[in-house]
This record gives sequence, structure tokens and C-alpha cells, in this order.
Amino acid sequence: MWSGRFREPLNPQFEAWQRSFPFDWRLVQVEVRASIAHARALAAAGILSPIEEQQMIAGLHAIGEITLQSEQHRNDPAAPFAASAAQAEDVHHFVELELTRKLGDLALKLHTGRSRNEQIATDMRLYIRNALDDVLRGQREWAIALLALARRSGTAVMPSYTHLQRAEPVLVAHWLLAYVSMIERDMSRLEDCRVRMNLCPLGSGAIAGATIALNRSIAAQALSFQAPTSNSMDATSDRDFALEFTQALSIFGLHVSRFAEEITLFSTAEFAFVDLPEAFSTGSSAMPQKKNPDLTELLRGKAARLFGASATLSLLLKGLPLAYNKDLQEGQEPVFDAADTALGILSVLPSFTRTLRFRSDRMAAAAASGYLNAMAAATYLSNKGVPFRKAHEQIGNAVRYALESGRELEQLTLTELQTFGEAFAEDFYAAITIEATLDCHDVPGGTARHRVAAALDAADQRIAAVGDLGGKEASGVR
Ligand code: ARG
Repeated sequence: MWSGRFREPLNPQFEAWQRSFPFDWRLVQVEVRASIAHARALAAAGILSPIEEQQMIAGLHAIGEITLQSEQHRNDPAAPFAASAAQAEDVHHFVELELTRKLGDLALKLHTGRSRNEQIATDMRLYIRNALDDVLRGQREWAIALLALARRSGTAVMPSYTHLQRAEPVLVAHWLLAYVSMIERDMSRLEDCRVRMNLCPLGSGAIAGATIALNRSIAAQALSFQAPTSNSMDATSDRDFALEFTQALSIFGLHVSRFAEEITLFSTAEFAFVDLPEAFSTGSSAMPQKKNPDLTELLRGKAARLFGASATLSLLLKGLPLAYNKDLQEGQEPVFDAADTALGILSVLPSFTRTLRFRSDRMAAAAASGYLNAMAAATYLSNKGVPFRKAHEQIGNAVRYALESGRELEQLTLTELQTFGEAFAEDFYAAITIEATLDCHDVPGGTARHRVAAALDAADQRIAAVGDLGGKEASGVR
């Protein structure tokens, strides 16, 4: 590929070690597509005759198809191409070798006016764009599963926690909608990232721009990029899109890990808020009674792996001089791994979520004890004109008194209550029922029952509006 200037053979260990083909074969489909786009631009520039263009495109299509088929059968698309695979330094070299086998010298014209530096930048954008759309589809499916669970939970209540201490009762649906909010941000982060990355590096050459007058819009359009990139030095060395992708996936992983942790905690005998679905749990080879939350534990672990990918990319890019440097080759595997990890998470998370069954009796009992209505009680007093600080103190005293006799606030008599303040009246008891305690949070985004019902409808509509993304091309890669 580049041996003209060299007189000595490469050290064989170095030669094998510096190859990227063992992992970048995953780019073969996008490499073929990008090469077809470049062939079109070459033909428009008069470098390829119409016949040559046709032959070139047909040859590239054939490579794409055979590699795709073998990819579907086994994990090694290069298997039918053993000879080229053994020789190939990277996926670009591989496609060129194969094309040369098919077309002879005509194939060698394909590299006119282009460089592997712009090719790898283009391939990675195409790969990530596909992976990103697949992740978005999975995230949307998870949001739909959470919404269904929230709807099914109706007006079931649970305690909410701050400092992992019981705080106030909330609707189970309200708690689940918190995760829908997170996933909506995750989706919008990926969509933002998609817009920024959707520019075509082809035509940037090795660093300074193509040496032939290419119409760069041809390749950009053929690959459904919004436009060509605007600076050849940036385009050949930029991997922000990969960094953003892995960072967005890290934040998604962080959200998944919080959900996973709560489910793990809630499945303990101490909480017993949820029965782990057997289909998604594992036993212990030592302790016969065990049902372990391996799925949620693994989800927490996978989040660490996503952070690892984004950390690798950050470190790789920090201080890297312009423009292309071979270091960048090390940025591919973390991207593949992050995409695989996120899609792996999403292959189980929606179905796991759909299967979850909460122990609403246990949750309701936990929400009904431990003075979770103290805030509502203080609000009752403040509605009667008692300044909130005073109301807080009076209820605090009442809680202390109730604790001593092992009772809840609603179990204190009116006479007892009135020793803490004059504003207590018979209507106090109605103001601190579980329903009243929920409904006094009557603000948008609060846990009042009608607010949660409205929030659920609104979230349903927003998620439906995201569309099923079915219109976007399916990746076929990975
Ligand atoms: N395999 C290389 C990579 O992934 C392709 C670009 C090689 N460019 C070069 N100038 N050596 O980065």
C-alpha cells in the first residue's frame, strides 16, 4: 500500500502489531459505502469513465454483500477473503486488495484524491451514526416499558427517600417517571451528537484537502451527510463525535446503574418491594435458597465499562497535535465496545422492566408508617396561618411525642395534638391521609395524583413523538 519508499522489510512483530484489521473489519460495510460515494465523486471529476464507475461500484457492492452475508453467519466477515485478510493492514487496505482481485488495475484508481486519514474519519462517523440510531431505538423501547409499568401501577404508593431515609410518600408512577426524564435527556444528547457529527470528511485528503477538484457534495449526499466538513485538518484529526458518543453513553449507563441499584436494593428481604422475575435472576451454586439480582448487578458493572471507553478517548485526544496521528487507531475499539455494551444493556433492560412486579402491599405499608406525612401535617398548620418555621417545630414535637408512645401522627388524639399548638382541629386527620399527603404536592412535576396522571400522558406523547426511528436506515453493521 505504501512500500515504494521503503527498501527494508518491516519487522514482522511490528507489522502484525500495528495492524487494525483484526478489529476494524467491523467497518467493512461503511468502508464499502464510503468508497462507492468516492467513486461517484471521481466519476463526476472525470477521473473514472461512466463504464469504469459502474464496474467499480458493482465490485464494491459485491464485496459489501459477501462480507455482510458472512457477517450474519459468523463473526468473521473476512473468512471468504482469507487471502486478502491475511495481507490487509486495515479495512481500507482490505477493500482495496479485494477490489484489485476483482477489477485489476482499475481498482487502483479508487485511491485517487483520497487518503486513509479521511477514510477512517468518515467510516467512524458512519459507524457511530448507525450505532447511535440503534441505541436510540433501544432507549425509546426502555422508556415505553417504564411508561407501561407506571401506567400499570395506577395509584400505588411507595416511600421516597432522601439520604436513603424515608422522606415522603410518592406514587410508584412518579418514581418511574423520574427514569423516563433521564432517558429523555439521554436520547436528546444522542440526537444533538448526531447533528454535530453528520458532516462528511471525504475530500479532506491526508491533511490539507484533496489534490483534485472534487465536488465534495456528491459524496456527502451519497452518504446522507448534511454537508462536507469545513476544515481538512480538523476533519482528519477530529474524534469529538466519538468522544461525545461515548460520553453520552456513559451518562446513559450512569442512569441505568441508578435504576439497577434501586431495583437491587428493593429486591432485598429488608425492602421486599419487588419480586425479581425468575427469568432474569440466577441461583447460587452454594446456597440453595438464593435468588440473585445478577442482571441489575451486571447493569451497574456495564456502566463502568462505558465510562472506561469515554475515558480512553479523552486521554487519547488530550494534547494530540494536528492532524492525523496513528494514536487515533486506538480510539476504534472503545467505540465498538461502548456501542456493543449499550446495545447489550438495551437487549435486556426493556423486557426486564416489563416483567417487574412490585409488592404494592409492602410499598404501601412502608409509605404509611414512619411519619412520612409530617410534611403534609406541617403544611396543614401553615394553611391555617401558622408560620411554616413554627408549624415545622410543632409537628417535630408531635413526632417526638408519638415516637415515645410508638404511634403515628394520626393516632394522636386532638387533645394531645393541641398541646403542641392551637391550630390543630378535627380536619387535621383528613389532611394527613396518604391521599392528602400525595395531593398536597399539587404543582406541575409534583406527585399529586392528577399531576402524575397528566405527567404520564405528556410523557407518553413526547415518547410517541420521537417516532419509532424506523425511517432511519437500519445499520446492518456490528
Ligand atoms: N488504520 C488507520 C487508523 O485506523 C487508518 C489510517 C491510517 N493512516 C495513516 N496515515 N497511517 O487510524
